[in-house]
Amino acid sequence: MSRTIEAKEHDRLAMQAALDAEKTQPERNRLGQFATPTALAEDVLQYAESLLPPAVKVQFLDPAIGTGSFYSALLKVFPKKRIAEALGFELDPHYGKPATHFWKDTGLALKLADFTQATPSPRFNLMICNPPYVRHHHLHNGEKTRLQLRTQQASGIKMSGLAGLYCHFLGLSHAWMAEGGIAGWLIPSEFMDVNYGQAVKRYLLDRVTLLHIHRFDPNDVQFADALVSSAVVWFKNESPPPDHKVNFTFGGTLLHPKLSRLVSTRALGREPKWTRFPVSDIRSRETVPTLADFFEIKRGIATGDNSFFILSEEEIAARSLPREVFTPILPSPRYLQQDEVRTRKDGSPDIDRRLFLLDTKLSEEEICKRFPALYAYLEEGKTQGLHERYLCKHRSLWYGQENRPPAPIVCTYLGRGDTKSGRPFRFILNSSRATVANVYLALYPTPLMAREMTRDSKLLRKVWDALNKLSAGTLLGEGRVYGGGLHKLEPRELSNVPAAFILDLLPQNSIPRRSRQLGLFAEA
Ligand SMILES: C[S@@+](CC[C@H](N)C(=O)[O-])C[C@H]1O[C@@H](n2cnc3c(N)ncnc32)[C@H](O)[C@@H]1O
Repeated sequence: MSRTIEAKEHDRLAMQAALDAEKTQPERNRLGQFATPTALAEDVLQYAESLLPPAVKVQFLDPAIGTGSFYSALLKVFPKKRIAEALGFELDPHYGKPATHFWKDTGLALKLADFTQATPSPRFNLMICNPPYVRHHHLHNGEKTRLQLRTQQASGIKMSGLAGLYCHFLGLSHAWMAEGGIAGWLIPSEFMDVNYGQAVKRYLLDRVTLLHIHRFDPNDVQFADALVSSAVVWFKNESPPPDHKVNFTFGGTLLHPKLSRLVSTRALGREPKWTRFPVSDIRSRETVPTLADFFEIKRGIATGDNSFFILSEEEIAARSLPREVFTPILPSPRYLQQDEVRTRKDGSPDIDRRLFLLDTKLSEEEICKRFPALYAYLEEGKTQGLHERYLCKHRSLWYGQENRPPAPIVCTYLGRGDTKSGRPFRFILNSSRATVANVYLALYPTPLMAREMTRDSKLLRKVWDALNKLSAGTLLGEGRVYGGGLHKLEPRELSNVPAAFILDLLPQNSIPRRSRQLGLFAEA
């Protein structure tokens, strides 16, 4: 029996590959058509088996079945006599028709229909789904409203307009689940951190019993062709018991994760970033100092068009533009080899690639009178339509820049965890007067930090050194993790990084250290 199941899976994979090859990438993206690899599908069903009571007959539903990777794994893991019913939905006949033919006479009912339009019947005790990953901006407005309404009817979740189709699939399927039934969802882990995921998280905490979230290591991407970092979310359709704890696991496989941690639903209700777990423990935010206590963190300047507003020394000279309307600006991180930027006498950075940002509050009339060459340059920008661009148009002077004074420490915030240095982010000590564009985050000392800096002239350097020694885990516990190991850090996220280590760099008698002794800041 099992040999024939293996052979069937082998044939299904061949069919899947042939059908995928007949479609273009954009076509597949439009309907979120990325199949689950066999090994993962089998892990998912094996895990599901461990969650179901042994005697119970299975009523299986896959709302986005494709060619049936999960159904195939169901047949492998469960004895035929235990499967009371199996139902699948597939919108696209390109996959649905051959799959119907392929599985005929095996007991699968495959409906060629839109799951989001189907009338629910709450009888399924095993819901397994890798829903289509279609981002919200690919959902038409009417479609979005319809989905929001139906999802709310089905589950009580009021989904944000920014929620992708996969969130609606999850909400809609609530109305198909039997009381006590088990669900396993293979979805992007994004919902765990972003605002639109809030409603999904409330559902998982309040309406059902969240059992387990396993997150795959983004450096080990599950879907070669879909660059998303995925998670498997397991829950049971019943109210959560008091003091319930959820198992968070990371890395390795679903059945053999590398890390795990139990986190109480009470703590999860308070924690905005669930991807912190299982790496980090629950934090008591009120007592642990974070970087925000020492630095105000802002994203660098969005110029509107770097190629127009940022010029080299040579370009400025060649066009006879006035130096006084330019501010030095650091080049993008890949052109900045060093982690310490020293200054020249005039405040400009002492580096090879010297760039300057056009930054003036002068009106066009004044510029016309005083600096004809600059006026001509701005006119050139206008003929390219720059002044009509969204960012430029919404400034009081279309060429005027946001106020971003030079910051003594800046941070590169899009990094790969696997770089040579092993550091996903670089902190750069900047003693020049150079500002930064939005490829950097700028760290401005808070009054507390500024005061301590006047007391210890070496403090900033010590802090910079310590920042560069922060483990990837400490920073990434806060950062969003994208597929392929690309990490992005928002100003707010960097602000939330625990920073008790800075306290240790301050003099014993400093106010923040004494505050810790008084219990205002606890040890992290
Ligand atoms: C991510 S794939 C998963 C396929 C399969 N379950 C697997 O894991 O290999 C999602 C599938 O959902 C289908 N789909 C997209 N929108 C749908 C809808 N509204 N109703 C039903 N199926 C849909 C796509 O055509 C695609 O085959």
